[in-house]
Amino acid sequence: KILIVDFGSQVTQLIARRVREERVYSEVVPYTRAAEAFRTLKPKGVILSGGPASVTEDFSPRAPEEIFEAEVPVLGICYGEQTMVAQLGGEVESGHHREFGRAEVDVKAESPLFEEVWRVDESYPVWMSHGDRVTRLPDGFKVVATSENAPFAAIADEARRFYGVQFHPEVVHTPHGAGLLRNFVRRIAGCAGDWTMATFRQEAIARIREQVGTGKVLCGLSGGVDSAVAAVLIHEAIGDQLTCVFVDHGLLRLGEAERVVQLFRDAYNIPLVHVEAQDLFLKELSGVTDPEAKRKTIGRLFIDVFEAEARKLAAQDGKPVEFLAQGTLYPDVIESVSLTGGPSVTIKSHHNVGGLPERMNMKLVEPLRDLFKDEVRKLGRELGMPEIFVGRHPFPGPGLAIRCPGEITAEKLDILRHADAVYLEEIRRAGLYDDIWQAFAVLLPVRTVGVMGDGRTYDYVLALRAVTSVDGMTADFYPFDMGFLGRVATRIINEVKGINRVTYDVTSKPPGTIEWE
Ligand code: XMP
Repeated sequence: KILIVDFGSQVTQLIARRVREERVYSEVVPYTRAAEAFRTLKPKGVILSGGPASVTEDFSPRAPEEIFEAEVPVLGICYGEQTMVAQLGGEVESGHHREFGRAEVDVKAESPLFEEVWRVDESYPVWMSHGDRVTRLPDGFKVVATSENAPFAAIADEARRFYGVQFHPEVVHTPHGAGLLRNFVRRIAGCAGDWTMATFRQEAIARIREQVGTGKVLCGLSGGVDSAVAAVLIHEAIGDQLTCVFVDHGLLRLGEAERVVQLFRDAYNIPLVHVEAQDLFLKELSGVTDPEAKRKTIGRLFIDVFEAEARKLAAQDGKPVEFLAQGTLYPDVIESVSLTGGPSVTIKSHHNVGGLPERMNMKLVEPLRDLFKDEVRKLGRELGMPEIFVGRHPFPGPGLAIRCPGEITAEKLDILRHADAVYLEEIRRAGLYDDIWQAFAVLLPVRTVGVMGDGRTYDYVLALRAVTSVDGMTADFYPFDMGFLGRVATRIINEVKGINRVTYDVTSKPPGTIEWE
């Protein structure tokens, strides 16, 4: 086990992720709880994360002293290195403001940290954080790598097995960083590397049971991967204390509602309330054309419907629903934190139940909070969920409403659903589905003239979109070959009544967004 002490870096969870990739269990705890966690976890190694503070300031965060006295290996990253140096009797000088960037480090000495990854006298690219820097090493330490701006880019006290790096080995911009972390957890800390998703599953189940006790849990299903995996995991933990609510707002893709209901009711036998609210949503959306107004209308209705279901469930036996389960992922947490300065607003986007926990006095159960999308997919597979569910592209909470610019009507939604299904069928048939982050069709509120057979047509234009992305934050359009696009266009125009022209969107993000609204 590895203890990761969090000093508030935006990328601390990436350290945990790299450690998990080495099949080693790790726990991230804020520095304020590190001493207690160190005693209970009894880790074989400790990693001190980066963070925004400066060790030269009064009252800046520190690692618990006992960590340095327990004869376990410690790796300090960035701020973690600086506080280690300061705490062990070295000196750190305050720099100007903090700045991140690419740098080259020169390896000066051999170290188990570098073994089979970096060689002496070679230089390697790293992602560096400039700012404060170490100016004098504590006794026992030596420099093992330098860079132009950071003469103490990597330091080591091999006897005590203390290591410090000024750069970030956890980010992909440090190409061999994962190897250095592997050396730390496997070679230096001696962790066996036998932790797997199966272990995560067991541990997550234990945590859910402990949190929930005998309480009732409500989980909103969106049809997406995250909420589905969260629901299956929670059901495994607490059985029918869990009720899932699936609000069908009529903005789903073809066959989606049936798939969700089938999977949960039939395959998993999880209590599921299927709310058919299509008419309500369509009625309230009628005449709404502004994208934000659409999103807000959908969000408001969703909460109303969900809340009504929660009240019904509470009324059944007079016991309130104490918990709301969500499939919040780590990137959701990070994004909300960085945008708003506080983690309280993580209930966002398609989880669409923002505000509900406060209003109904519910506590959140978020078993996937520390995971990344691909890890959630792995967990879903571990839980035996069908590939068609686990591997699917993300789908936005407001659904097809934001893929239908202008006014939404039942007719337009039908046209869009049909065209989208043809497009995705072709993508799957061509074996491209898993290479693409997200693919979908957008029905434009524009009609153009065409000719079909002997007749004139005057029908809608469809735009196809497909992007590659790592996390949805940035994206590139997918470079289909023209033959493929031509085939899709022909099929759609022939098969989908109401469309007579097809275009392909070649905008990246930024400056575009993935969705059109
Ligand atoms: P954009 O359009 O902002 O989308 O580039 C980035 C990713 O987020 C998805 N998306 C949403 N997901 N609720 C969601 O759950 C929403 O309101 C929402 N809007 C966009 C989008 O599909 C893409 O994967």
